[in-house]
Amino acid sequence: MDKLLIEGGVKLKGEVLIGGAKNAALPIMTASLLSSGENIISNIPHLKDIATMGALLKQLGVDFHIENGKVSLNTEKITSIEAPYSLVKTMRASVLVLGPLVARMGTAKVSLPGGCAIGARPINLHLMGLKKMGAEVDLREGYAVVRAKKLKGASIYFDIPTVTGTENLMMAAVLADGITILENAAMEPEVVDLANALISMGANIEGAGTSVIKLKGVNSLRPVNHSIIPDRIETGTFMIAAGITGGEIKIKGCNFSHLDSIVIKLKEAGLTIDKEDDGVIVKGPERLSSVDVKTMPYPGFATDMQAQFMALMSIADGTSLITESIFENRFMHVAELKRMGADIKVQGSLATVKGVASLIGAPVMATDLRASASLVLAGLAAKGTTIVERVYHLDRGYEKIEEKLTPLGAKIKRVK
Ligand code: EPZ
Repeated sequence: MDKLLIEGGVKLKGEVLIGGAKNAALPIMTASLLSSGENIISNIPHLKDIATMGALLKQLGVDFHIENGKVSLNTEKITSIEAPYSLVKTMRASVLVLGPLVARMGTAKVSLPGGCAIGARPINLHLMGLKKMGAEVDLREGYAVVRAKKLKGASIYFDIPTVTGTENLMMAAVLADGITILENAAMEPEVVDLANALISMGANIEGAGTSVIKLKGVNSLRPVNHSIIPDRIETGTFMIAAGITGGEIKIKGCNFSHLDSIVIKLKEAGLTIDKEDDGVIVKGPERLSSVDVKTMPYPGFATDMQAQFMALMSIADGTSLITESIFENRFMHVAELKRMGADIKVQGSLATVKGVASLIGAPVMATDLRASASLVLAGLAAKGTTIVERVYHLDRGYEKIEEKLTPLGAKIKRVK
């Protein structure tokens, strides 16, 4: 298993180019199942999760290729309607084939995702919506078997805003009979990017990006041809890399409007963040100030930024209260940060972070995608050497992060 060796204490300086958003690419890849033809998606990051989704689509009969950030998917013949446990257990986002398969094939057999490191992550809301649209749903031997000759438009209310739940039901609704209203829908930019891709395929959608999305079913859709939005979580991660090392980074290719709540909190922590026409200049202060944060659905502070922000707060002046309100177990990075000298106490969904003068490098273990990013950030700021193990978690969401950090002056290398 790969490890990352990091020599901390360097103030990062230079420019970094942000890649395409993984969590926009995944649903838009499965949206290709809604049409029969040659689909092209560009600005796709070369990540493990993208390769896993490609393997799943191949298993369904799709001809999948990826080269230089461009994915082509020929969906003329679908030869299977099953997403097997072996694949779904490695990537929960596999559940995103459910909506398009039922819409196109009238049936789907998708393994229930099972838990993952950060929580139980059920798909009950996805299945509730499909039932409302007339589908029959049977749960057997860990699989959801969903059948519907033709889905019908329906009014669906989500008890909690679910990102992939909203995306699955959007993809089910675009070919359904009649009008579907999704209420308390997720408003993430990745949901909007999916809506834009579906509209470019000929779908009739209003309200994406708000909590009420209205979709009017059409008879058929053209193949997708779309370029993915920049990754707001990768952007936020590099902003924190500037903040935690006291450096100055110019971030290019990002969409600044997707980061409001993150920028507000980082400025409160003392970073200067200036938008220019060809990028965003982010500077870390001499001394960071502690800031309280509560993760919320978009446009609130992203849960996917919580671990990275905690690393920043671990060396800030004072005490910060970090509340994780989306997932029930997303504090696995706390024990690892404490091994590096952080002073953090967890009670339920609240972590109390008391800033220390500096962290000390240590061997640490990555446990999930964003936790591993927070350990890399901590290693960049720590005195001495940090070894981050199980880097495969990191590779799921960050394209060769060491190759983007090295030009900024970071002393980081991957060892087998
Ligand atoms: C998406 O996961 C993202 N993944 C996650 O990013 C992100 O952390 C999450 O949204 C929250 O923003 C992708 O987009 C591929 P949810 P998702 O459904 O859709 C509960 C990463 O780092 N819930 O919005 O699975 C659920 O348990 C990943 O790339 C139900 O109870 O998250 C959670 O507590 C990690 N029943 C809350 O809702 C359901 O049917 C929000 O989950 C669905 C969700």
